[in-house]
Amino acid sequence: MNYYENVLNLIGRTPLVRLNRMAGGLKATVLAKMESLNPGYSVKDRIGISMVEAAEREGTLKPGGTIVEATSGNTGIGLALAAAVKGYRCIFVMTEKASVEKVRYLKALGADVVVVPATAKPGTPDHYVETARRIARETPNSFYPDQYSNPNNPEAHYRTTGPELWDQTEGRITHFVAGLGTGGTISGTGRFLKEKNPDIRVVGADPYGSVFKTYKETGRTHEATPYLVEGIGQEVVPANVHMRYVDEIVNVTDRESFEMSRQLGRKEGIFCGGSTGTNLAAALKVARGLDESGVVVFIVCDTGEHYLTKHHSDEWLKEKRLLEPQKMTAGLISSTKPAGERPRVLSVAPTASVAEALAQMDKHGVTQMPVIEEGKSVGSVRENRLLAKVLGDRDLLDAAVSQLMEQGFPVIDVDASSAEVTRQLRRHPALLVEEFGRITGIITRHDMLDVPNYGR
Ligand SMILES: Cc1ncc(COP(=O)(O)O)c(C=O)c1O
Repeated sequence: MNYYENVLNLIGRTPLVRLNRMAGGLKATVLAKMESLNPGYSVKDRIGISMVEAAEREGTLKPGGTIVEATSGNTGIGLALAAAVKGYRCIFVMTEKASVEKVRYLKALGADVVVVPATAKPGTPDHYVETARRIARETPNSFYPDQYSNPNNPEAHYRTTGPELWDQTEGRITHFVAGLGTGGTISGTGRFLKEKNPDIRVVGADPYGSVFKTYKETGRTHEATPYLVEGIGQEVVPANVHMRYVDEIVNVTDRESFEMSRQLGRKEGIFCGGSTGTNLAAALKVARGLDESGVVVFIVCDTGEHYLTKHHSDEWLKEKRLLEPQKMTAGLISSTKPAGERPRVLSVAPTASVAEALAQMDKHGVTQMPVIEEGKSVGSVRENRLLAKVLGDRDLLDAAVSQLMEQGFPVIDVDASSAEVTRQLRRHPALLVEEFGRITGIITRHDMLDVPNYGR
């Protein structure tokens, strides 16, 4: 029979996959280290089992014990897998920034999850690390792994990730690119690779706003500013960040991280999280300067499924003003505008009375409406114009809308670009959005205030 003793035996030995379409025009080979194929779908499975088994050996984790950790999610998942197999309880502290998918995932694995504000400063009682420490102190028979300083975190990568990359590339790897959250991946893997060949360049990929680039270059840190990518970057430098194994830090914007993450799915079929996009952006920058002998490996930290309500959602990206310009279509603009209680397309029939049309506009707080007959746009009404006419002749209140309506709003396809929408709105007060022959939305000039300045 061919089987594994338990799911923990599936951790590690992840494959390398070459980039093809995304590396077009590059001379160097760019390889993705598929940590998303671990059983908990992230690079952090490696340190979950490593920290738990070290604690068992050292006696800090005893039978019936509770694991308490501060995590952006993935370390929690790695620990929860180990806890499930070995029979421990888990309590994880996360910030509000963590995706709801990760919170639910941890709960599904049997963990308790405490969510604290993302705004709390390091060292203050509400900060997620301080909260985890306090819960660990107050919980009998608990173990606090502390991934930020636990040496078994980088050690796991020194023992496994580094040797795997060396063997898989037959010692030909020239550049290793990884993000820094705790620093475990880059410090452990970097140390192993540099011991094998000190010429291998280790590149850290870091969000703008995080402190690592300044710290690497000056030895000091600056006040961190918020960014949206999860799991990497810090406000303070964790003990597991060993800059002596890191040659360079490359800063990447949220926009580029998310765009790269999405492209990796679309162009290579590798569905990944935002920090993978950060790594990929840095890897491609590095690879651009290399010849055929260059072999650049970057870490695919986790799976895109953790972020279906975040950067893999067009609506979320639009709200954060980060959507790729080509995605900002008429359909998306009309489907994501705040509609309140009102129907998606408020309209009136040509046979309705002018009084009914006015009452409807008043009720829903709109100033214009399309006149629609059998799903087709046949005209439009504007509150101002109708009122002006009715003032001159009260009987017109009973007239049919068709008698007083104006020209219909232009109809635009759902896939029309935001630039096209803007162009048409210069000449018309509103546009109707058509999808497969049906009117499915309306865009007014006012709605464009919510849309970033794409393509204008
Ligand atoms: C999604 C994601 N990417 C990258 C990392 C960074 O890895 P490390 O903590 O080993 O520096 C983390 C760590 O929390 C993570 O959750």
